[in-house]
Amino acid sequence: MVSDCSGGGGNGLMENLASSRFVVACVFAGMVVGASVLALHLGGYANAVGMPGFGKKKKRRPVRVYMDGCFDMMHYGHCNALRQARALGDELVVGVVSDDEIIANKGPPVTPLRERMIMVKAVKWVDEVISDAPYAITEGFMRKLFDEYNIDYIIHGDDPCLLPDGTDAYALAKKVGRYKQIKRTEGVSSTDIVGRMLLCVRERSSGDSHNHSSLQRQFSHGHSQKVDVGGSDSGTRVSNFLPTSRRIVQFSNGKGPGPDARIVYIDGAFDLFHAGHVEILRVARALGDFLLVGIHTDQTVSATRGAHRPIMSLHERSLSVLACRYVDEVIIGAPWEVSKDMITTFNISLVVHGTIAENKDFLKEESNPYAVPITMGIYQQLESPLDITTSTIIKRIVSNHEAYQKRNEKKEASERKYYEEKKFVSDD
Ligand SMILES: *[C@@H]1O[C@H](CO)[C@@H](O)[C@H](O)[C@H]1NC(C)=O
Ligand SMILES: *[C@@H]1O[C@H](CO)[C@@H](O)[C@H](O)[C@H]1NC(C)=O
Repeated sequence: MVSDCSGGGGNGLMENLASSRFVVACVFAGMVVGASVLALHLGGYANAVGMPGFGKKKKRRPVRVYMDGCFDMMHYGHCNALRQARALGDELVVGVVSDDEIIANKGPPVTPLRERMIMVKAVKWVDEVISDAPYAITEGFMRKLFDEYNIDYIIHGDDPCLLPDGTDAYALAKKVGRYKQIKRTEGVSSTDIVGRMLLCVRERSSGDSHNHSSLQRQFSHGHSQKVDVGGSDSGTRVSNFLPTSRRIVQFSNGKGPGPDARIVYIDGAFDLFHAGHVEILRVARALGDFLLVGIHTDQTVSATRGAHRPIMSLHERSLSVLACRYVDEVIIGAPWEVSKDMITTFNISLVVHGTIAENKDFLKEESNPYAVPITMGIYQQLESPLDITTSTIIKRIVSNHEAYQKRNEKKEASERKYYEEKKFVSDD
């Protein structure tokens, strides 16, 4: 039966379509057969005999769902999409588009594939990652997903995805009933974040000639206002992020530390959450049983790193950190200094800090925020695995300033259109 399916490709488009539909139908049938054979094994002798591979008491094959993306400058909106996708199945396979494909389709990515892979793998709802997904999903790749990766459903957001010829990229998956849609996450997009960075760069470079203090204030107060720098429309940035308690619950693990758990504490701004953050959190988590992450308030970040920071508000930063699989709990608005009271309240066994940090104040003798844990002998400095900071990310954007601004202007127009035309869609 399988050999019947592997017939050669047709010549014309119609033939191609027809044959691909046939292949999918066969794959479908093959899966149904596979599932029933497995059920037979489990129901019958397999468990008793101890057949290799069927040892665990799994009643059915897990439903595998697939979602892809560039995940360039990953933010909590991506994480939320992955969370929603995972909820539609048992195992989530994520396709990450290669650097070459991104370059060919929309210009160089800000984040190289290596870092994008670290970011995606660290999201707690992701089970597997494919590192060479095509930019625009093709029928051939869809067949590969169904065939080789045993994908049951392909998931995509509710924005239309068209191929260069104007046809629906997911037509095939829809036709065979293996397409599911999720609701777009409101309030954030990479376009919006790039806009915030460009604005903050421009504001610094135009510096003394203009008084931008009101702009700076908005940067450090949750970005809820429309920011208009006047003149060119390209600086206009609207953030529609409205933090809700439900979203925080959806991102939380909802579990406290177990009895006798060794609790590790790490704090920081975690602005523009990046691969460097992920890696230090991974190392910190390995030192104990429960990782508590303190996220500094917007005011603290502005005071220590400059008025144009943070780029992401406290709630946005909290969601990004919560989505990371190495994190057990966050403090939304942690104090700058780690106090004795805090250590007692949370039963913290170890306080850690990475060697790569933008603010080296913690090295100073006086006003060291870690003075208490140091005195208690529970402070440890960790070698940061990656040499990346939030400034690194901003610099990458700035070095491609012109190109990003052009690309951004185009995307901003379509973003505006989306918000003007958007209607209520019920959430999951
Ligand atoms: C900017 O404007 C604010 C009030 O709008 C004022 O307090 C501040 O001194 C001004 N700064 C400069 C550098 O002119
Ligand atoms: C506090 O943490 C220590 C581990 O460092 C653990 O042995 C102890 O049981 C914890 N205390 C409570 C009350 O959980």
